[in-house]
Amino acid sequence: MTMHIPDQTGRTVIVTGGSSGIGKATAAALAAKGARVILAVRDQTRGRAAAAEIGGLTESRPLDLGSLASVREFARTTDGPIDYLINNAGSMTDTLRHTTDGFESQFGVNHLGHFALTNLLLSQITRRVITVSSTNYRSAHIDFEDLQWQRRPYRPFGAYGQTKLANLLFTRELQRRLSRAGSPILATAAHPGWAATGFTMTTGRRILDHTLALGTRLLAQSPEGGARPTLLATIGDVPGASFSGPSRFGVRGPAALEELSGEALNDDTAQKLWEVSELLTQIKFPLPTS
Ligand SMILES: NC(=O)c1ccc[n+]([C@@H]2O[C@H](COP(=O)([O-])OP(=O)(O)OC[C@H]3O[C@@H](n4cnc5c(N)ncnc54)[C@H](OP(=O)(O)O)[C@@H]3O)[C@@H](O)[C@H]2O)c1
Repeated sequence: MTMHIPDQTGRTVIVTGGSSGIGKATAAALAAKGARVILAVRDQTRGRAAAAEIGGLTESRPLDLGSLASVREFARTTDGPIDYLINNAGSMTDTLRHTTDGFESQFGVNHLGHFALTNLLLSQITRRVITVSSTNYRSAHIDFEDLQWQRRPYRPFGAYGQTKLANLLFTRELQRRLSRAGSPILATAAHPGWAATGFTMTTGRRILDHTLALGTRLLAQSPEGGARPTLLATIGDVPGASFSGPSRFGVRGPAALEELSGEALNDDTAQKLWEVSELLTQIKFPLPTS
């Protein structure tokens, strides 16, 4: 089932991690409707190949979310209005690794990189900031005592879940700040359910990882299917701070709005995470608040 996407001629979209999987499918759907699409990717060979394959007004530009210098450079060299910023990129690492700025890699890439990018580009964004999360947020917790897994034994799934919960709390607090600043921009979030992409889920336990890989082969939907919630959160008639996902058991099927639960609804946690993220990145919300 395809989604109706109105004409996007004249609109500019940035998709992080747009050279593969859900990001590429999202980019292709918007480019097919006339949008100018910037694939913000760390590997330019793959980015250019994806841009050529997608066609239309699609280009590839370098962005490594694991480096604040790269994020700053991307923002510095991005001119003009941006209709939609789609924070799609994400990674899961099986062992404790760090970004060039010394952040735990998943937290640095999935949350802090997008936090920095959004705030640096916010004064150019005209319509929406869309962030791709995951249902893993439900079993996750933001541990402010040990955000970077320095004291606890590293758990790949726990670290990933924390970043996907952070994506939702970021969206919530961003929307609160935008509304307070009187901005018409919306912050929305989505999750793809289960999609067969290059994304590798690594729990660190071999048997479980093999089972997950088998499940992906048998049960997951296509990247195009996984992109539908992102597209709904981008061009659909949805409210700020909303969460879009697949309507069939939250795993596949047409996109629909979904209720958030638990810690993802906690405004105090959202505000605290924002403040900590500002401290860690030294990048602040740029719009004036009355
Ligand atoms: N597939 C699923 O079932 C599923 C479920 C829940 C949530 N998600 C979320 O969906 C989003 C897209 O994932 P996907 O499934 O489409 O997997 P994917 O094909 O692996 O795409 C992830 C993208 O993120 C990019 N990326 C990773 N680290 C980066 C960095 N440091 N800087 C810039 N880009 C970086 C990757 O680029 P490289 O090619 O350079 O590594 C890749 O293009 C992710 O946020 C993921 O958490 C996916």
